[in-house]
Amino acid sequence: MKILICASEGAPYAKTGGLADVIGALPKALIENGCDARVILPYYKKIKDKNIAEYKGYAYVRIGSSTEYVGVFEAIHDGVTFYFIDSDRYFNRDGFYGYGDDGERFAFFDFAVLEAMKVVQFFPDIIHLNDWQAGLVPYILRNNYWAYPEFNRIKTVFSIHNIQYQGNFPMDMMNILFMPYSNSLEFGGCINFMKSAIMESNAITTVSPTYKNEVLTDQYGYYLNNILGLRYFDFYGILNGIDVVKYNPETDKNLFKNYNIKTVTSGKKANKEGLLKQFGLPVEDVPVFGLVSRLVDQKGIDLLEPIIDEVINYSNAKFILMGSGDSYYENFFRSVEARHPDRFKCYIGYSDEIAQKIYAGSDIFLMPSKFEPCGLGQMIAMRYGTLPLVRETGGLKDTVIPFNVYTGEGTGFTFTNFNSYDLKEVMFLAINTYNNNKIAFKKMIKSAMEKDFSWKQSALAYIDLYNKLVR
Ligand code: GLC
Repeated sequence: MKILICASEGAPYAKTGGLADVIGALPKALIENGCDARVILPYYKKIKDKNIAEYKGYAYVRIGSSTEYVGVFEAIHDGVTFYFIDSDRYFNRDGFYGYGDDGERFAFFDFAVLEAMKVVQFFPDIIHLNDWQAGLVPYILRNNYWAYPEFNRIKTVFSIHNIQYQGNFPMDMMNILFMPYSNSLEFGGCINFMKSAIMESNAITTVSPTYKNEVLTDQYGYYLNNILGLRYFDFYGILNGIDVVKYNPETDKNLFKNYNIKTVTSGKKANKEGLLKQFGLPVEDVPVFGLVSRLVDQKGIDLLEPIIDEVINYSNAKFILMGSGDSYYENFFRSVEARHPDRFKCYIGYSDEIAQKIYAGSDIFLMPSKFEPCGLGQMIAMRYGTLPLVRETGGLKDTVIPFNVYTGEGTGFTFTNFNSYDLKEVMFLAINTYNNNKIAFKKMIKSAMEKDFSWKQSALAYIDLYNKLVR
């Protein structure tokens, strides 16, 4: 089975979020299970500057009234073939997203992907598209390639990693596309890439079973829930995994000390000491909350605002947080740090090294998300023996077993409703369990570390789906 995975970012070449981790890890797992899986990405300046890819050829695509050059490059990483779409006009820029012409840039990318397949002579059974940036591929494939036998047998799968970002652009985008109008492209008077993908793909997936159910509702569907409802019988929820080789406390070079499930008590103690010292906090046996996140509305940081002072004033907990994003949340973190410099520390920015130190050195990992399609942080935390504290939504609900005060079972702490009061209650439960019920806390650490978050099961579920479509 031949698969071409198409996305706007993928580790290790281009990463802003969890999508890149998935695009980095899924092809490896597919290859391990017998597929020929390859990836295609834009050739952003940041990748191009590294000069690691080999030129394979070129093609042209039509955008509006101009004919645009498409360079095709190839690199192999960890046994996975990556193709890159080169365009001086659209991708030779410092960032990946956030430009006024993003709609045109990714429309170009979607046309270019199909032409690049001819250049490298790779005609897959399945094109697996991810998020809105790849959303026009199924529509272009159906309209422009139906007469070509290598193309018209290709089936498409579209994966939703976050339904909040849909790729909505003014209708005059039609002039750029230079294709027949289709109702499947339009939503609310705009061109909507995600709607087009939902309507035109052979199957749709999203990254956890719970998120699948959620996006079918008004509360989580960001207006596309009824469109998804039309495709209900072709819509699947397949949980992401994590890269268990990269995220392994036994071998992770970023840690102060490596450990495994047998040595977790002493291992975490050493990492906690190192982390507290690095952030200039006194080394004490108190519960430490960690957080590593993009600081955006989705992540539920607002819930902390009204309660953080109370939690700090009425407990012995400390906080070490890392993230960047909306300046509103960055300033909120800085202001709490200014009020409680000996209890609350934040690092505004992102560093892989510090992230791993927080995963290993904290006791409780905070993820109070408003919505979370899958979430990777909670799985990484559990693998490092750090108990996640999450809201029961999306993939958080599917991966964290709530602490049961009576039986001591669970792999983390959870709350249901999106409100600060419930978050505060469960934070105090976690703090009290750490302080006064060490046996239960340790038992949970073991249960968390025993869970299997590898890609194997997910890869098999995708292969099942691919097979169903090809048959
Ligand atoms: C997006 C989602 C996150 C998910 C990731 C990978 O970043 O916000 O929940 O884990 O995509 O699918």
